[in-house]
Formats: sequence, C-alpha cells, structure tokens
Amino acid sequence: MARLSSYKISWLFLYFFTLVAVSSAQLSSSFYAKSCPKALSTIRSAVNAAVNQEKRMAASLLRLHFHDCFVQGCDGSVLLDDNSTFTGEKTAGPNLNSLRGFEVIDNIKSQVESVCAKTVSCADILAVAARDSVVALGGRSWTVLLGRRDSLTASLSTANSDLPAPTSDLSTLISAFSKKKPKHH
Ligand code: HEM
Repeated sequence: MARLSSYKISWLFLYFFTLVAVSSAQLSSSFYAKSCPKALSTIRSAVNAAVNQEKRMAASLLRLHFHDCFVQGCDGSVLLDDNSTFTGEKTAGPNLNSLRGFEVIDNIKSQVESVCAKTVSCADILAVAARDSVVALGGRSWTVLLGRRDSLTASLSTANSDLPAPTSDLSTLISAFSKKKPKHH
C-alpha cells in the first residue's frame, strides 16, 4: 500500500512538472530546427541584403526590436497597423516618424513564409533580425532563444508611457528598464 501511494505520488509529480513545462513554454534556440530549418539563414540573408543597401538599416532593425520588447514583451505588437477598429503602437510619440525598417521586416516575413508557411512568428523574426543586424556591422553575436508567439493586441498607451524619452534622467531610465525585468534576448 505504501509502495503504491509513493508510485502514485511520483506520477503526480511527473504530471505536474510536465504541466509546468508545457505552460511556461520555454524558448529554445533550436525551436525551428525541425519545423523550419531554413528560417535563420533566410532571415540572415535578407538582413544582410538590406544592410548592404543601407547601413543605417541595421540600427533601425535593432531599435525596432527594442521598441517591440518594451511594450507587452517581445510579441511583435509594434508591427501591427492601425485600422478603423484597432489602434496599434505606430503612432506613439517614441515611434511616430522615427521607427524604421517595417518594410524590411515585411519582406523578411514573406521570404520566411515562402520557405515554410505559418511557422515562424514575427516576434522571432524581429529578435533574429536585430541580432543579425548587429553582426552585419561587425558587432558581437549572441544566441537568440526562439518560440515567441505574436500578439493579437497592441498598446498605444504603454508605448507612450513605457518607452524612455530622450529627456529622461538617469533614475527614470533605471526604473524604466528595471520595470521590464528582461528574461529573454
Ligand atoms: C535608454 C533609453 C533610450 C532612449 C531615450 C532612446 C532614444 C532614442 C532616440 C530619441 C533616437 C532617435 C530617433 C530618431 O531617429 O528620431 C534613438 C535612436 C536609436 N535607438 Fe534609442 N533610445 C534608448 C535606448 C535604446 C536601446 C536600449 C537601444 C537598442 C537596444 C536603442 C537603439 C537605438 C538605435 C539603433 C537608434 C538609431 C535608429 C535609426 O537610425 O533608425 N536605443 N533612440
């Protein structure tokens, strides 16, 4: 009897940890290894082509990822366009008339869709493009963890309140960054 219950308890633990593992959906650098093995090379070539055409684009793509991550996390929300029933983040003060590179991301997304449809998230494309941009200009590389889900929502008000302003002093900047507690690249 005692043996039976400890057996049951160990299954319960296994079940619980499986649930935790599934629900916390760990990001992984090999997330697309099977589902879209050409994803990373497709993004890298497209970033290199864009940066070869205009060096500044590398900076713009890095900034796009930063402005994505600071509002609702790195979920692609910065990419969503306004329409009659939806307001995105593009018109926020820190974004309007200064964020650039949306058409480069659109182009990368369509290339990635043609190698494997409906597989790679836009949020992951932004994260990888930011890294590849830095590398394209001779910066250090880093491993990007993948598997982000794209948001169906955006927040104009959070973009306005949480993205730091050029006038922010040091303590405002420190609190703006610590509020985000970044967990993933
Ligand atoms: C610390 C708070 C920050 C403030 C207040 C700030 C503010 C700004 C401003 C005002 C610009 C000029 C935008 C324009 O062209 O009109 C800019 C550009 C830029 N920012 Fe930031 N930024 C901050 C942090 C960051 C971070 C953390 C990153 C990268 C991870 C970043 C990456 C860039 C890049 C690459 C550009 C140039 C973009 C381009 O030329 O298209 N910034 N930033």
